[in-house]
Amino acid sequence: MVPECVNSGTHKDKTVRDLFVEAFTEMKASVDRGLDVKDIEALYVGTAMTEFFEWQGHTAPIMASWVGMVPNPATRIEDACATSGVAVREGVIAVASGIYDVVLVGGVERMTAASTEYVTEILAAGGDAFYEAAVGFTFPGLYAAIATAHMHKYGTKLEHFMKVATKNHNNGALNPKAQFNASIRDIMSMRTARAKEKGQPVPAWKDEMEFLNDPQSNPIVAWPMRLFDCSPITDGAACVLLVAEEIAKKFTDNPIYIIGTGQGSDHALHERADLTSFLSAKIAAQQAYEMAGVTPEDIQLAEVHDCFTIAEIIATEDLGFFKSGVGAKAVEEGLTARNGSKPVNTSGGLKAKGHPVPEMPNFIFATKTLVS
Ligand code: COA
Repeated sequence: MVPECVNSGTHKDKTVRDLFVEAFTEMKASVDRGLDVKDIEALYVGTAMTEFFEWQGHTAPIMASWVGMVPNPATRIEDACATSGVAVREGVIAVASGIYDVVLVGGVERMTAASTEYVTEILAAGGDAFYEAAVGFTFPGLYAAIATAHMHKYGTKLEHFMKVATKNHNNGALNPKAQFNASIRDIMSMRTARAKEKGQPVPAWKDEMEFLNDPQSNPIVAWPMRLFDCSPITDGAACVLLVAEEIAKKFTDNPIYIIGTGQGSDHALHERADLTSFLSAKIAAQQAYEMAGVTPEDIQLAEVHDCFTIAEIIATEDLGFFKSGVGAKAVEEGLTARNGSKPVNTSGGLKAKGHPVPEMPNFIFATKTLVS
């Protein structure tokens, strides 16, 4: 028997509203002292492209209706891959302002029902439609340009990207909710078993690096980004309940405090002087650290945006974990592994966990003990 497909986390048969209600129901059940939907005063929903994937715009009131929140305010946020991160930040600002005490934030997208060609074209609209998408730049293409710039400036090698993919798949194998709940070793076994069953030549990869260097198993998507450098096309939803600190204990004995948030923006890629660092990420991180009163050295674990493997390397530099150009070496030395000194993307990251584009955020969360 061929082992089950490891790309098991897709939900083609569900709609955006199904996914959102599922995430909401799970979130509600996790509130240990109970949550009455009537207590939720406002909803912020992150969806990037539901019009194109499901012919459903105006997503926020539809989701409010499906979770029983009508007539309370429901607002949609769209900011490409930062969509739901920004939605959480808007929720935090709303609670911090004192306008609301209880806010629901969610993110949702369903992408796998569409063809890869269609998804690629729609996602390209997240770049500059006139100066990038119109001349053929897709997201793998944009990150290929970023990766080659990093390679040229800092000597980053293809093997560094492969190490990021291997690490994140190792982590995804431990995450039951990951789209690829499988290490690269698991994928190698699956491919070997499949070849045997089909009577095809059985590949004999020695290890992950040999598998990832094999153009058959890891074809080029946009050089130097290969299949295993890309996050997959994904369906998914997530919900988080934000409540004012003073009433948090009404809902749970163990609240998680958001102690810092930040947000920045940048020019379209073709206008940037340097492709090897993201100004918006640097600004956002500085703001969040300052608000939280912490430094990069204090961070014990980080979930960063690894839509392509190079993005994780750059994020670890922009967030100040490593000096510019040293992120690749840090992966090579295992510093960002689960048992390393600075674990990164222990969920599997977008690479293995999946990347329903609006994405939930990379915030500075902390337990009370870390804050004090
Ligand atoms: N990583 C590893 N394996 C992947 C994968 C990925 N990202 N995407 C698909 N696969 C696997 C599938 O599981 C399947 O394996 P199987 O043959 O063992 O079942 C095989 O590759 C083919 O899958 P398919 O869905 O036909 O791949 P595809 O060629 O149509 O799409 C990509 C692959 C990389 C082009 C697509 O996932 C993609 O466009 N990713 C980037 C999405 C993106 O740009 N997001 C926004 C970033 S900002």
